Amino acid sequence: MATPVDLPSREERAAALESAGYNLFDVAADRVFVDLLTDSGTGTMSDAQWAAVLRGDESYAGSSSFRRLREAVADVMGFDRVVPAHQGRGAENVLYGTLVAEGDRVLNNTHFDTTRAHVAANGGEAVDCPDPAASEPDANDPFKGNFDVEAGRAAVDEVGAANVSVVVLTITNNSAAGQPVSVENTREVAAFADEIGATFVIDACRFAENAHFVTEREPEFADATAAEVAREQLGYADAIVMSGKKDGLVNIGGFVAVDGGLDDLFERAKQRAILYEGFPTYGGLAGRDLEAMAVGLREAVDDDYLAHRVGQVAELGAELAAAGLPVYEPVGGHAVYVDAGAALDHVPSSDFPGQALACELYLEGGVRTVELGSFAFPETERPEYVRFAVPRRTYHREHFEHVGETAAAVVDRADELTGFEVVDEPPMKELRHFSADLRPL
Ligand code: F0G
Repeated sequence: MATPVDLPSREERAAALESAGYNLFDVAADRVFVDLLTDSGTGTMSDAQWAAVLRGDESYAGSSSFRRLREAVADVMGFDRVVPAHQGRGAENVLYGTLVAEGDRVLNNTHFDTTRAHVAANGGEAVDCPDPAASEPDANDPFKGNFDVEAGRAAVDEVGAANVSVVVLTITNNSAAGQPVSVENTREVAAFADEIGATFVIDACRFAENAHFVTEREPEFADATAAEVAREQLGYADAIVMSGKKDGLVNIGGFVAVDGGLDDLFERAKQRAILYEGFPTYGGLAGRDLEAMAVGLREAVDDDYLAHRVGQVAELGAELAAAGLPVYEPVGGHAVYVDAGAALDHVPSSDFPGQALACELYLEGGVRTVELGSFAFPETERPEYVRFAVPRRTYHREHFEHVGETAAAVVDRADELTGFEVVDEPPMKELRHFSADLRPL
């Protein structure tokens, strides 16, 4: 589909920002020129996906669309026990609600926000075990998304293996600047989970982009296709949790898939899915959504598509670096992360430099990004990142050039920018970046 977009005038942008309480989630999408808020559900479906939508089987039980999804998950990801869900967090509720009990620890290379929230909602405690290189924005390591098994062992020593029920590997590692995870690390983490008797889960949202990096950076897979790497890497997991809104190439959808040997886990996941998502052959989705995801999964591991996709994100990274923004290197698979703390070093963390940069990018060029620093994650020590996430199959080089020009204009007057203060926020501070109102200082 093609959608007309236009750049609202500067006055319109200023008015939109003010009436949104300087919160970009509250800016109407038709007031945005290049929307880099997220890569989730914002991509473009292919002709083959739209064609598949028309044959959606809307039967409540036993839909043939579900059968086609199950076949695609088996072919592309290697799992033939599939429980669909309306999106990733629905799948997380199904899986972690089944696996996590009160007092359990869950280890992850880095928990994404919704994963952390589902662990906590089930009485568990989320422990991050990122590779030390993840926190070095200039280190040129190929797999900065890896899980640090030493950190995992330290967590086990502290609480005992019996209290660590689940070990998760998030590929690519969204909360660590979208960095990839190697197959070698996946094998190590699988062996570690096995050794402590924990269930090994892969959060596979961006499994295809991760596989592309593996073909480029892990010598063992230099001659492999992304499809081959994906099957190999996912094959180590006991279960996978998936948001189809990323590498399923759909606007809505997700699922849990379970290894053939784990009948009990599969049964329990299905029962919980009935409670929260729907009968396990539709899981909160229309039959046509299942069809679109079945086709999208197959398209997602095409090597030409992936080279273009990951190449586009790298191209945006180069535009932003040329504009003078401090870009996290190497650039991730779905997004470019910029350190606003370094770009606006006169704005202290307490005044949210990331929000100042994000608002100015919108005001200058109608570009929407997301702050992932002290405003989004209150009371946690982390860099003041602003994320530029790239929707799949949506934008062209001209859009990225516009973002680069916008960034350069903002960098030129960076020392004039001031920070923000929160004037109104919801009771759950962890979720404030979606709805809080701010005021420029
Ligand atoms: N896991 C990871 C690693 C994610 O990045 C996301 C979503 C989810 C789970 C949840 O999936 O949105 O379908 O419910 N990430 C989006 C983002 C929202 O903007 O990074 P969902």
